[in-house]
Amino acid sequence: MCGIIGYVGYRRCQDVLFEGLKRLEYRGYDSAGLAWRENGRFECVRSIGNLESLGSALAARSAAADGSESSPVATAIVSAGIGHTRWATHGGVTERNAHPHSDWSGRVRIVLNGIIENYLELRDLLAAEMIQCSSETDAEVVAQLISFYYVGDLSDAVRRAVAVLSGHFAFVAMCDDEPETLVGVRHECPLVVGIGDRELFIASSISAFIRHTRRVAVLHDGEIVVLRPAGVTVFDVDGFPQAPRESKVDWDEDRCEKDGFETFMLKEIHEQPTAIAETLRQTRVTLGPAENNPLGLDHLRDVRRMIIVGCGTSYHAGLAGRMAIERWARIPVEVDVASEFRYREPIVEPDTLVLGITQSGETADTLAAMRLARAQGATVVAVTNAAGSQATRDADAVLFTRAGLEVGVAATKTFVAQVVLLYALALNLARARETLPTDRLAELQRGLELLPEGVEQVIESVDGPIRELAERLVWSPFFLYLGRLSGLPVALEGALKLKEISYVPTDAYAAGEMKHGPIALLSRDTPVVCVATEQRVLPKLLSNLSEVRARGARVLAVATEGCKQIAEHAEHVVYVPATDPLLQVVLAVVPLQLFAYHLARARALNVDQPRNLAKTVTVE
Ligand code: F6R
Repeated sequence: MCGIIGYVGYRRCQDVLFEGLKRLEYRGYDSAGLAWRENGRFECVRSIGNLESLGSALAARSAAADGSESSPVATAIVSAGIGHTRWATHGGVTERNAHPHSDWSGRVRIVLNGIIENYLELRDLLAAEMIQCSSETDAEVVAQLISFYYVGDLSDAVRRAVAVLSGHFAFVAMCDDEPETLVGVRHECPLVVGIGDRELFIASSISAFIRHTRRVAVLHDGEIVVLRPAGVTVFDVDGFPQAPRESKVDWDEDRCEKDGFETFMLKEIHEQPTAIAETLRQTRVTLGPAENNPLGLDHLRDVRRMIIVGCGTSYHAGLAGRMAIERWARIPVEVDVASEFRYREPIVEPDTLVLGITQSGETADTLAAMRLARAQGATVVAVTNAAGSQATRDADAVLFTRAGLEVGVAATKTFVAQVVLLYALALNLARARETLPTDRLAELQRGLELLPEGVEQVIESVDGPIRELAERLVWSPFFLYLGRLSGLPVALEGALKLKEISYVPTDAYAAGEMKHGPIALLSRDTPVVCVATEQRVLPKLLSNLSEVRARGARVLAVATEGCKQIAEHAEHVVYVPATDPLLQVVLAVVPLQLFAYHLARARALNVDQPRNLAKTVTVE
C-alpha cells in the first residue's frame, strides 16, 4: 500500500522525507519520489524500484546542483516538502506515474494514497478546459484540479477539488505560491499529523515521523488540515476551523511499525477488514467495463472451464473460490496444488481460464504451473498481492489483492483478500453468464461488501474467549480439524496456521472422511475443531461429531449465530454472523487464525519473521 510523508520545518527537507519513506517501506511499493522547495524553487525527484534507486537519484541531483552529495542543514529557514512510496494501481510502474504529481504548470504538487473512482470523468472535464494529463494516474488529475481551482488560497482550492472527487483517498498538496504550506485531506484513508518543536509532519502512518515527535493530531474522515510554520489548522467536513486533537503516542519505534500491536501477525489479523475493503474496491476497477479488458464481462462469458493452482494458503483460497465459481457461475473448476499440477500432464485447452494464486507472486511451483498452462494455450490470470512480481509478468492478466505487505510468516490478511477477490470474480462470471437471478446477485454483492464489518465484529467478539481457550489447550499434543463443503477450506487453513506457527501436529479432513481412518487418532486428549457453518450439511456434520464424542474427544466449533443444535455437540462454540455460507469462509477463518496465534504466543513462540522481510517462497 502506498505511503505518504510531508514536512514543514527547519531541517533539510529531503533528508526528513527520505527517512520517513524508509519507515514506510514495510508497506510495500514499486516506485517512490520526493518534491520539496530549495533555493526558492520546487525540486522533484522520482524513481522506479526501491528507495536505494531514489537515494541514488537524489545524490546525483545534489551532486549536479552544488557538487556536494548532501548537507545536514537546511538551505532555507523553513523548508517544506512531500514524499511518496507508490504501489501501482492506475497505470504501470514508470517514473512518469510515480508521485509526486504536478499540474501542467508545475505550480501544484501532490502525493496521494487510495483511489479516485471518477478520475476518467474528471480527466475528460479537464480536457474540455484544454488541460491534458501527462501520466496515467488518478493522482495527477487531482493536482490539475487543485491548480484549476487555485485563486491564491491552497486550502480553498483543495476543498473545491475534494468536492468533486469520489472514491477513498488521502493526499497532501503543496503550491509554489505558498511555499511554506502543506494541505492534507483524509477521506477514508489514513493520514495523521505529527507536531514537533518548530516543525510539523504529516504521514499515512505515525511510524514515518515517530523518531522526531510523539505528539500527534489524528484527523477524522472528511477533514482538511493546513500545516504552516505557525501551526496546524484542521477544518472539519463543513469547513469550520478546529483546534487539532492532540495526543501523545508512547509506543517505541518497533511497536509503532506494528501500529501498536505486539506482533506483525496480530496487526495483520486486525488489518483484514481493510484488506477486504481495499481488494473489493480494486476489483471493481479491474473487473470493470473497460474495453479490451481480458477480465471484462465479454471475455468472461466465453469461459468454459477453469483451473486454479496455488500452494499452501493460496491453494486453500482456491478451494473456496472453486465453490463460489461452481455454485454461482456454473463453470466446472479444478483446483490443484501447483507442485502436483505441473508434473501430472494436466489437460489444458485454449478455452480454459487458469488462475495462479500467489500472494508473493514469486512461488516457483505456482509460476511453473502458470507457464505450463500458458504454453498449452490457456489464458492465465495471476492473483497476487505483489505488484511487479514475477507472476504479474508471466500472466495474460493480473488481479491484485490489496492486502498491503504481509510481514508475519503466516498468511492471514492475504488469504481473506484472495477469497473475496475470487468471490468478486465468481459474481462477475455469474453476471456475464446470467446464471443467477438479479436479486440473488445483488444480495451476494451486498453480503460481500458487508464482510469488512463482519470480520471486525468477529475479531472484537472472539479474541478474548479464543485467547483463554488457546491458553487452556496450550499443551494438547494433536488437533484434528473438520469441515464440510465451504467449511473444509476453513478447516484446512486453520490446521495449517496452527502447525505452521505453533509447531503442534494437526490434521484436517472433510468431516465425512473421518470415520475412514483419522478417527483412530482420537482420544480424550484430542481437541477436534469443527467448522459448522454450512446449514445444508449440518445434520450430517452433527452426526460426524457424535462419532467424535463417542471417542471422548472434545469438540470446539465455529458455527453460525442462532444455530442452536451445535451447542449440544460442542464443548466450546464460537459464533460468526449469519450470511451466505461461502461468504462465511471469510468470517469463520478469523477465530481459527486467532486461535493459532494465541496458542503460539502461549507457547512463547515468535510468530513473525525477522522484521521487514517480505515472504517469498521459491522452493521447487
Ligand atoms: C501459510 C503460508 C504459505 C503460503 C504458500 C504460498 O501461512 O504463508 O502456505 O501460502 O507458501 O505462498 P504464495 O501465496 O506467496 O505463493
